[in-house]
Amino acid sequence: MVGADGTPNFAPPNPHYRSLMPTVLITGGAGFIGSHVVRRFVQRYPETTIVNVDALTYAGNLENLADVDQAANYRFERVDIRDAAAVQDLVDRYQPDGIIHLAAESHVDRSITDPMAFVETNVIGTVNLLNAARTAWAGAMEGKRFYHISTDEVFGALGAEGFFTEETPYSPNSPYSASKASSDHFVRAYHETYGLPIVISNCSNNYGPNHFPEKLIPLMIHNIIEGKPLPVYGDGKYTRDWLYVKDHASAIDAVYHDGRNGETYCIGGWNEWQNIDLVHLLCRTMDAKLGRPEGDCAQLITFVKDRPGHDKRYAIDATKIHRELGWKPSVTFEQGLSETIDWYLSNKTWLRNVTSGAYLDYYSAQYGA
Ligand code: NAD
Ligand code: DAU
Repeated sequence: MVGADGTPNFAPPNPHYRSLMPTVLITGGAGFIGSHVVRRFVQRYPETTIVNVDALTYAGNLENLADVDQAANYRFERVDIRDAAAVQDLVDRYQPDGIIHLAAESHVDRSITDPMAFVETNVIGTVNLLNAARTAWAGAMEGKRFYHISTDEVFGALGAEGFFTEETPYSPNSPYSASKASSDHFVRAYHETYGLPIVISNCSNNYGPNHFPEKLIPLMIHNIIEGKPLPVYGDGKYTRDWLYVKDHASAIDAVYHDGRNGETYCIGGWNEWQNIDLVHLLCRTMDAKLGRPEGDCAQLITFVKDRPGHDKRYAIDATKIHRELGWKPSVTFEQGLSETIDWYLSNKTWLRNVTSGAYLDYYSAQYGA
C-alpha cells in the first residue's frame, strides 16, 4: 500500500495478521468530516491503529491528511465499499475492534441527478460493511462496535417550530436522504437480528476547513474569492443548523467511546440560520477580510431556481448527547466561520486542486456556467 506522498505504507501481509494494538477502521477518511475524525483519532489515540478506508472519489482527497499521514499508527487502504469481496478481505485482514462508517455520496444535488450512485455506495456499501463485520466478529461481538454516521435529513423537513430528536419518525425527501435512511435501517436491523453491536448518530449541517466547494458555505467562499455569482436557491428562506466540523469530530469520539450499544444520538449546533442571512454574513465578513468596500461581495448574490424537494428547515435537539455524554459544541459560529474563511484564504492551492477537472464538469451541469 502506498501513502499519500508515494512512500510505502505498511499493510498487513496475510489473512492471519492481527495488530497488537486496537484497530479502528474509519471509512470515508479522505473526505471532509472523515479527515477531521481520522486526524483526531490518530493524534489522540497513538496506541490505536487507525485505518483510513476510502475509494478516493471526487470528494476524497489525501491532501486533507498530509499532516498526519506519516504517523506510526496511521494506515491508508484504497477500497471501494461497493465491492463486497474487497470489503470482506479488508475486514478479515485487519480484524478491527471498531468501524466508524462515514464513506458516502453526500451531496443532495448530485443525488437528484444520479440517485443510483447513492443507492450503490450509501445502501449497498453499508450492507457490505455490515456483512463483513458480522462475519469477522461472529461469536466474539464483545468489545466490538460498528458506528454509523448519519444525517438529520433522514427526518425530513420541519415547519417553523420544533426540533428533530432521536424519537422523530423517518421521512426522507431526497434520494440522498432516502439512501441514508435506508442505511440507518439496515444498521438497526443487523443489531436487532444478528446482535451486531452498533451505534448511530444523526448530525446537522457541518462547515469548516476541507469542505468540498459544492456545498453552500465553501461554494460561497470560493465564488466570493473568484468574484463569481453567489447562487441562492429559491427565496433563500431555508433554514439549516450549522455545526463546526471539529465539534462533530469530538461528538463522534464521545459516541464511539461512550455511547450506549444500539442507541441513536442526535448531534447539532443549536445554531439555525436562514440561507440568505448566512450568505449576507459571509459577504460582510469577507468584505472585511479581503479589504473590499462594504456591500461589495453582496452584489454577487443571485437568486436561482430552487432545488426540487427542498427541505424547509432542519434543527436538532442535541439534549441526549449532552446529558449522557457531556458533549456540546465548543466553537461559536462567528469563531468557526472566521477560522473557516481564513483556512480557505490561506489554502488556495487546495481550492485550486479540487476545483479543477471533474468538479468543473459537475459545476457547469448544476449551474449552467
Ligand atoms: P464527503 O463527500 O466530503 O466525503 C465522503 C468520502 O467518502 C470521500 O472521501 C469519498 O472518497 C468517500 N467515498 C465515497 N464513496 C465511496 C465508496 N464507494 N467507497 C469508499 N469510499 C467512498 O462527505 P462528508 O460531508 O464528509 O460526510 C461524511 C459522512 O457524514 C456521510 O456519511 C454523510 O452522510 C454524513 N453527514 C454529513 C454532514 C455534512 O454536513 N457534510 C452532516 C451529517 C452527516
Ligand atoms: O443536514 C445535514 C446534511 O447537510 C448532510 O447530510 C449533507 O451531506 C450535506 O450536504 C448537507 O445537506 P444540505 O443540502 O443541507 O447542504 P447544502 O450545503 O447542499 O445546502 C445548504 C442549503 O443551502 C440548502 O438549503 C440548499 C442551499 N443552497 C445550496 C447550494 C449548494 C443554495 O441556496 N445554493 C447552493 O448553491
